[in-house]
Amino acid sequence: MVRVGVVGGRGYIGGELLRLLVQHPEVEISCVVSRSKAGEYIHRIHPNLKAFLNMRFSDFNLSRIGDNCDIVILAIPHGVGVELPQKFMEIGLKVIDLSANYRLKNPSLYEKYYGFRHPYPDLLKKAVYGLPELHRSEISNAQFVSCPGCIATAGILALTPIVKELEIDNSSFFAHAMIGSTAAGSTPTIYTHHPERVNIVRPYKLTGHRHIAEIEQELTALKPGVKVFLSAYAVDMVRGIMFSCQVPVGNLSDRDVWRIYRRSYGSEPFIILLKDQKSLFKLPDPKIAVGTNFCYLGFENGDDGIVVVSALDNLVKGGAGNAVQCLNLMFGFDEKTGLYYPGLHPV
Ligand SMILES: NC(=O)c1ccc[n+]([C@@H]2O[C@H](COP(=O)([O-])OP(=O)(O)OC[C@H]3O[C@@H](n4cnc5c(N)ncnc54)[C@H](OP(=O)(O)O)[C@@H]3O)[C@@H](O)[C@H]2O)c1
Repeated sequence: MVRVGVVGGRGYIGGELLRLLVQHPEVEISCVVSRSKAGEYIHRIHPNLKAFLNMRFSDFNLSRIGDNCDIVILAIPHGVGVELPQKFMEIGLKVIDLSANYRLKNPSLYEKYYGFRHPYPDLLKKAVYGLPELHRSEISNAQFVSCPGCIATAGILALTPIVKELEIDNSSFFAHAMIGSTAAGSTPTIYTHHPERVNIVRPYKLTGHRHIAEIEQELTALKPGVKVFLSAYAVDMVRGIMFSCQVPVGNLSDRDVWRIYRRSYGSEPFIILLKDQKSLFKLPDPKIAVGTNFCYLGFENGDDGIVVVSALDNLVKGGAGNAVQCLNLMFGFDEKTGLYYPGLHPV
């Protein structure tokens, strides 16, 4: 059994990690850290775990985690705990970081997008970007994996086949993303307060979204010069990301586009290609991804080009589920272990 520690266990990603890990046949949860809830039963914060996890949150203690865990998963905000991956690796643990602290290879982008000077620029190069569909073999051999942001996951998975195979004018992509409320984390603000957050389609970051940096990093590795323009909208969902992007390429049949996507993802366990006029869901919709580790991809082909769409659950494929997928690879388990089950319908 692999012994897992979770730091940031009180949060939404922490809770979702625990929901997945309690059912995982190859792991045992050894330690769940929360500064504010140390000593409290975990199910009091994550009530869905009541029948599954009779354990309390603990204080952060590096050597205790080192003695009791084989891997630690960090689910804390960016800009804090930047020193932790190095410290845990020094005492022999594997590390998965869900924050943005190690997603970007270029240290100067941290000042631009996150407002801090990165204190460990050399470690940025060693962190493996934790998206199995793009970096499977590196993740399998990694001691340290930095998982993508939720919109970045939806955007990179939607655009990778296009960038790999098609010539796009100016290599520029104009995209929109719609995001549910859990993407903002569990710490309330006036913007996330229920009367302000409910019933909205709120343009909240029309330019300069942080996840652009990750999306461009991964796509320029496939084709230099790719530029992404992303506008993000907060919408009235608890979970879910919907990403769509205009791709100005003509003269492609539906069959051509299918082939392009199948070549990239034909054997991917967590990618579902969906474009089905006869289905209740004709194209990807976050509603069908709720609670699952699937990313749904689809497209519509028009006279001026195609529009590609992706949909996923930000807490699962966009966060905790993707991290468990990486854990499976890092320990040589079947990648689907603990993650392969149908979603809820209706929900
Ligand atoms: N929400 C999503 O959809 C999503 C998706 C992908 C990635 N992520 C990333 O995952 C991380 C966690 O997100 P979340 O939504 O779970 O946030 P959250 O609900 O706000 O939880 C944050 C957790 O971090 C702990 N924490 C806060 N400040 C800390 C500090 N200085 N040192 C140690 N622990 C600290 C908090 O608990 P205590 O104060 O009790 O310790 C809490 O458990 C973030 O970096 C986020 O960007 C989130």
